[in-house]
Amino acid sequence: MPATSMEELVSLCKRRGFIFPGSDIYGGLQGTYDYGPLGVELKNNLKAAWWRANVYERDDVEGLDSSILTHRLVLRHSGHEATFTDPMVDCRTCKSRWRADHVKNGKCEKCGGSDLTEPRPFNMMFKTTVGPIADESSYAYLRPETAQGIFVNFKNIVDSTSRRLPFGVAQIGKAFRNEITPRNFIFRVREFEQMELEFFVQPGSDEDWHSQWVAARLQWWRDQGLTSDNLEAYHQAADELAHYAKATVDILYRFPHGMEELEGIANRTDFDLGSHTRSQADYNLSAHVDPNEDSTAKLVIPDPDTNKPIVPFVIEPSAGVDRGVLAILTEAYTKETLENGSERIVLKLKPHLAPIKVAVLPLARNKPEIVEKAKSIKNSLMATGIGRVFYEDTGNIGKGYRRHDEVGTPFCVTVDFDTLGRGDDPALTDTVTVRDRDTMAQERIAIHELAGYVRERLK
Ligand code: GAP
Repeated sequence: MPATSMEELVSLCKRRGFIFPGSDIYGGLQGTYDYGPLGVELKNNLKAAWWRANVYERDDVEGLDSSILTHRLVLRHSGHEATFTDPMVDCRTCKSRWRADHVKNGKCEKCGGSDLTEPRPFNMMFKTTVGPIADESSYAYLRPETAQGIFVNFKNIVDSTSRRLPFGVAQIGKAFRNEITPRNFIFRVREFEQMELEFFVQPGSDEDWHSQWVAARLQWWRDQGLTSDNLEAYHQAADELAHYAKATVDILYRFPHGMEELEGIANRTDFDLGSHTRSQADYNLSAHVDPNEDSTAKLVIPDPDTNKPIVPFVIEPSAGVDRGVLAILTEAYTKETLENGSERIVLKLKPHLAPIKVAVLPLARNKPEIVEKAKSIKNSLMATGIGRVFYEDTGNIGKGYRRHDEVGTPFCVTVDFDTLGRGDDPALTDTVTVRDRDTMAQERIAIHELAGYVRERLK
């Protein structure tokens, strides 16, 4: 049975060290979460899988890591200062604030009152000051999307890599939004991470590329273990589109709180590069942009057919890392009733995402020879580069198995007296027991075959 409620996931995440509320010991800071020892591994594995698929396995994508602090003019010309807003209403009775489209039946969620103000726009960008003097001229923003860092570096990347169309730039990093009502655990937060790809194409080929990216992104989420039954491609209606988009397809996932957006794949046309380009009138821009004489650059590239400089179109698959982690936990969380009637919780994560790949458990922690053997097995497995291998010496094998089921460790390796040649059966010398997380089946494997056995099954 998969996770049926968010409470089950929140509880597992706290209990086992995946995710904690931000600033927890001071009562928490709403809309922030901290990734614990296992959460950071899961998140890093997800990001590494994305980077591998979108950068290393393609020959048409470069990587970037741009700064979070962003010049005001970047976000003025991108349209975010004017339009990156959510509609907000105030409750006149209890003075609380709500996102207008989250209000149900016209009633305040806190006090139940229906005396609400008319919706008005609330800009979600976090402003800060840069340098020692805090005045109008020192304001900057924490980026609300990683994408703008890619657009403003377009010329630097083209000049330094000699790329020609079509090509993309990938970036993973933090984004910040002052959400009016953060909610649903890590689904809607104020500080989150995005995995974004801006894929620049010749105008006219954009719709075809858009469809290709939707298909590629759906397949990638399936490769991370999300099942087709829980995924859906949703085509946004014209009145739902962001200010920069001509068309957007959202990938929805069946989260515990409902079918909601996991990733958006937008056709941003030439809106952004056009907006940041000086002397826009020199180019035949499709999207309306205001004249920009603040920028120092022309973000153009030769048209593959005419060789004339053009502002390309861009297709943008933009996924939330935190929503990805939540989707993967939702899908992997499994409750099983065993033959003896007891219940086990197991995270059936794809092995490449599992925080710990193998746990090595000595049967007895007070037997130095067993401990030493277990540690040397741990070290030699680690040396094969499979990821985190964990030496676990709690001394209670059954409890160790339960704990590793709950955190999704694909294999537990137990070292015992037989391993040392001190058991009843000499044939078991230099072998260990390997337990499979999903089937709970145990196999006796020769130590020299262990690395190959595990590697084969972690693929
Ligand atoms: N550059 C395009 C862009 O930022 P978006 O649909 O606003 O588009 C992209 O955001 C993705 O970022 C979303 O699909 C979602 O996964 C994630 N995201 C957006 N706001 C979020 C929030 N407040 N908390 C967690 N993830 C968020």
